[in-house]
Amino acid sequence: MSHAPLNALVEQIRGLHEATPALARFAPWPGDLTPNDRPAAMLPAADLVAALPADTAVTRAVQAAAPHAEWRQSYSEREVSADFLNRYGHFELFGPHGHFHSSELRGYIGIWGSGLDYDWHSHEAEELYYCLFGTPRFRSKSKPETTLQPGGTRHHTPCEVHRMQTCTTPFLCYAVWKGPGLAGRPAMEPQ
Ligand SMILES: [Fe+2]
Repeated sequence: MSHAPLNALVEQIRGLHEATPALARFAPWPGDLTPNDRPAAMLPAADLVAALPADTAVTRAVQAAAPHAEWRQSYSEREVSADFLNRYGHFELFGPHGHFHSSELRGYIGIWGSGLDYDWHSHEAEELYYCLFGTPRFRSKSKPETTLQPGGTRHHTPCEVHRMQTCTTPFLCYAVWKGPGLAGRPAMEPQ
């Protein structure tokens, strides 16, 4: 198994994190990263990453790392649709169970296909999304709705109930969690 693409990706993300005021203000880049030998695990969502325009260094690094990543999903078909599961996935680049271990901060790369509705959900950890590609619409019950552009961020406080809908393109993100619930999971809101 090649670690080089994941090493290159974490360096790209570190550069992005440190150079982006909203990310650097949310949390400093973790000082405790150590390589963690996670196995690759594929999902259909990895194909969405491969199909994105390779127009930034970060996107190209995500594309190179995607075949080596441990792709995961937080939900089952009981909670979301089969279409959702076929066109969404994430991997934990760093964090308690990531390709690089950190107990300070958790960073994911996530992708959702076009025209998906990620219904109301919440988690204990505080969150910042950074849009790498796409124009997703975010809503929460306590702040105005926002449509992100690449380079835009969206913050969620601990346990804030939120919802995300993708537009006519996929949404690729770097998402960061901090604080209590760092190793937890999101939960869909009961209907
Ligand atoms: Fe979230």
